[in-house]
Amino acid sequence: MASHLYTNPPQNFHFLASSPSSLKPHLHFSIKSTKLQPQRSSASSVHVRCATQSSQRWSLQGKSALVTGGTRGIGRAIVEELAGLGAEVHTCARNETELENCLRDWNSSGLRIAGSVCDVSDRAQREALMETVSSDFDGKLHILVNNVGTNIRKPMVEFTAGEFSTLMSTNFESVFHLCQLAYPLLKASEAGSVVSISSVSGFVSLKNMSVQSATKGAINQLTRSLACEWAKDNIRINAVAPWYIKTSMVEQVLSNKDYLREVYSVTPLGRLGEPSEVSSAVAFLCLPASSYITGQIICVDGGMSINGFFPQHD
Ligand SMILES: NC(=O)c1ccc[n+]([C@@H]2O[C@H](COP(=O)([O-])OP(=O)(O)OC[C@H]3O[C@@H](n4cnc5c(N)ncnc54)[C@H](OP(=O)(O)O)[C@@H]3O)[C@@H](O)[C@H]2O)c1
Repeated sequence: MASHLYTNPPQNFHFLASSPSSLKPHLHFSIKSTKLQPQRSSASSVHVRCATQSSQRWSLQGKSALVTGGTRGIGRAIVEELAGLGAEVHTCARNETELENCLRDWNSSGLRIAGSVCDVSDRAQREALMETVSSDFDGKLHILVNNVGTNIRKPMVEFTAGEFSTLMSTNFESVFHLCQLAYPLLKASEAGSVVSISSVSGFVSLKNMSVQSATKGAINQLTRSLACEWAKDNIRINAVAPWYIKTSMVEQVLSNKDYLREVYSVTPLGRLGEPSEVSSAVAFLCLPASSYITGQIICVDGGMSINGFFPQHD
């Protein structure tokens, strides 16, 4: 957790009654920033000016962010990473108790994070979420992170219509519609950034994941298309594509030791990833420092997607 980045205790704390969930803590406090002292020599002045610009390039102070699915795993790490860099974050999840527990933890750590109960696979709930976000952030959103995604592993011919629809609505339709709903807010920010969580399955074939991989492939191409369509509004669109990351979603499949050994064997770095190793890539794509990067999908995969044939014994 990024709580160590904050030294200020909460100043005041209130609940907004308009929240679609019962509790919606908001926290107002000022984050201590290290101020650069003026220098005497002209050389030092140049140094200070560059450093100041640099500190702005690597900060999300004053930015607003919506991160879907922020109570566990990769989403939680993203929420904490963005808030740690100074952004005011709104997140959502379906489980209200888990969300309230997270909000309590975050607020006691001094992070500026609010949340709503929302199932992003449901159109009406997505609309309600964006209305809340718009009213909280005065109609401006700098960052949208489409993190929610799920998986159903089985051969393609065994998929029921309901399972197909669950994967499509949760993984892809939610991304498409949230982008559509967020567009006026992102445009109003004058420097918007959308990052969607894809998967290496959007690039390479994985066993029993044909439908999930189709949703991630669709995210990848939507990323490229929107990057061109929305460039005129200074909205950047990128994606991050992980391989196995230690989260609740993959706990069960990775509990099989033989399977885990095979995962390691195709991963050049020879290990699983941590949620914080994905959130750092997402944060980079949200920062002013990445202002010339759009339409890209960055794999965070220990080298898995570029692995060729490297036998252990020649
Ligand atoms: N973990 C990996 O190895 C891996 C690899 C490649 C790609 N990814 C991608 O990374 C993203 C995050 O995965 P993860 O492993 O961190 O998942 P996770 O551990 O299962 O966490 C999912 C988070 O999203 C929320 N969520 C799930 N469905 C939702 C819905 N319909 N509406 C709103 N919130 C929802 C969950 O809370 P509730 O359950 O309370 O709703 C939870 O906060 C996904 O897009 C996934 O495809 C993961």
